[in-house]
Amino acid sequence: MRYLAVSIIAIVYLVFCWFCWRNYQRRQQQLSTQHSLGTESTSAEIIIAYASQSGAAATIASQTALQLNAAGKASHRISLNQLTPERLAQAKTLLIIASTYGEGEAPDNGNRFFARTIGKLGGNSLQHLHVAVLGLGDSSYKHFCGFAHLLQHELQHRGAHFLTDVIEVDKLEESALRHWQYYLGQISGQPHYTDWSRPAYDEWKIVQRECINHGSPGAPAFHIQLMPADNNAAAMSWKAGDIAEIGPGNSEQKIQQFLQRLGRDTINPVLLLHSDLSVSEERCIELKKMDDAALVNSLTELPHREYSIASVPNENTLDLLVRQVSVAPLQYGLGSGWLSVHANEQQPIRLRIRTNKNFHSPENNCPLILIGNGTGIAGLRAHLANPARAHTRNWLLFGERSAAADNFFNTDLQHWHKAGVLARIDRVFSRDAKPGEPRYVQDLLQPNALELQRWVQEGAAIFVCGSLQGMAQSVDHALRNIFGTQRLELMADQRRYCRDVY
Ligand SMILES: Cc1cc2nc3c(=O)[nH]c(=O)nc-3n(C[C@H](O)[C@H](O)[C@H](O)COP(=O)(O)OP(=O)(O)OC[C@H]3O[C@@H](n4cnc5c(N)ncnc54)[C@H](O)[C@@H]3O)c2cc1C
Ligand SMILES: Cc1cc2nc3c(=O)[nH]c(=O)nc-3n(C[C@H](O)[C@H](O)[C@H](O)COP(=O)(O)O)c2cc1C
Repeated sequence: MRYLAVSIIAIVYLVFCWFCWRNYQRRQQQLSTQHSLGTESTSAEIIIAYASQSGAAATIASQTALQLNAAGKASHRISLNQLTPERLAQAKTLLIIASTYGEGEAPDNGNRFFARTIGKLGGNSLQHLHVAVLGLGDSSYKHFCGFAHLLQHELQHRGAHFLTDVIEVDKLEESALRHWQYYLGQISGQPHYTDWSRPAYDEWKIVQRECINHGSPGAPAFHIQLMPADNNAAAMSWKAGDIAEIGPGNSEQKIQQFLQRLGRDTINPVLLLHSDLSVSEERCIELKKMDDAALVNSLTELPHREYSIASVPNENTLDLLVRQVSVAPLQYGLGSGWLSVHANEQQPIRLRIRTNKNFHSPENNCPLILIGNGTGIAGLRAHLANPARAHTRNWLLFGERSAAADNFFNTDLQHWHKAGVLARIDRVFSRDAKPGEPRYVQDLLQPNALELQRWVQEGAAIFVCGSLQGMAQSVDHALRNIFGTQRLELMADQRRYCRDVY
């Protein structure tokens, strides 16, 4: 009997231990999920490393983690000094948010990264790694975002692939942070996020909208011309290279579907035009409990979209070239659908101009080599149209699919060719290319290596605009072969190799 009692006590004790152990495991799992938002988790493939003195970069690192987490991507947030060679070896994507101090130096929690980690890494040890760097700084300092650039330089030297050039944030300028959010959307594969700050939009109107690639094997591309809604000439102020931030709106159908889902017919649909209506079932139940005003106020605004401005102000319209993104039959991407289909010509278009200093024309009258594909022609066209560069020499290398359908802005290009602004135009169309002929714009570079070297020798700057996937990396690779990595990086430092890729 005594043995039976002891056995029962032992079994109860073992079951108790098993429960404790299981709860401990669950708790650990929960912690690891929470930490992927902010602190610990060794399995995450995305590392967010920050170097911050007074906290701004660290805060943006947390916001970055939250956006990725909302898109279902776990990340691991640490200071740059905590980023060891072992952690780098495991990561697939590294996002660095780094501020700069002193003479372009690191904040304290990033000042040992070179000695402890980078210095221990060999030549091509980071070839597995995709990196994006957000630099915080103040352009009144001599070494603006100097530490961020140094990081990019050193990581690039060890073979890391860069998703984009350093995104510089001057005095925490909000539009640069929104631009960073765009890349987080790309990295996470989730373009539906909430902007950290709402752009202060102006109202513009569409004065002309035309599909300019009928019969193309690619998606429709629309040339869209806009003017300020109140014809205010003061709003017509931007430089070649600048970007239009657009506040998209919902289609009428999407608004009606939302109202039906909520069982409301008392809300004015106009109040829902710019709100994010893609809400979960749980959120929908909450919304149903609210009165109309509270419901409308509780919705977040749709995220912005960015488009390269294709014109200059003295052409009297702000021009965009927008590729229509289809997500299902008659269902379009948020920004491209709004601009190409849903917004009618009477509708105010929310638009804000983002200064994009990195892609402004050089101040001297040096020649320009303009390289791009697809809608990237927009960002390049603006430089050709720039009256300040009317007496310079330019060379356009451009790739698209079909010569018959995708010869974007051909009339303008021929005009500039005749006028001597465009000394050379080299275009390549992938669907027309015969075997052995160049297909993509990157294929045009090596055969023209000597001429490209001659132009650069004569002081030319290289500007690249268009696809991040496929084009930008291949062009970069070809240019490295032609000029050598050191020379190309020096050109980038001197703002003679500038890219605007997306
Ligand atoms: C600096 C810069 C300049 C740019 N310049 C130009 C330019 O000149 N011209 C231009 O056309 N673009 C340009 N872009 C890209 C532009 O900002 C947008 O990313 C592009 O128009 C697509 O946005 P969207 O809102 O139409 O599509 P999104 O709604 O963002 O959709 C994008 C992708 O997400 C997926 N997706 C979205 N919704 C769904 C859904 N319901 N179901 C399934 N999948 C879905 C699809 O794969 C779709 O292809 C630029 C970007 C940057 C950063
Ligand atoms: C003492 C001091 C020195 C700075 N030096 C630079 C500099 O050399 N280059 C630069 O781009 N920004 C410089 N800055 C600006 C900071 O990098 C910028 O304010 C940044 O947003 C700070 O981010 P943090 O809060 O993450 O440290 C300096 C700021 C201070 C206070």
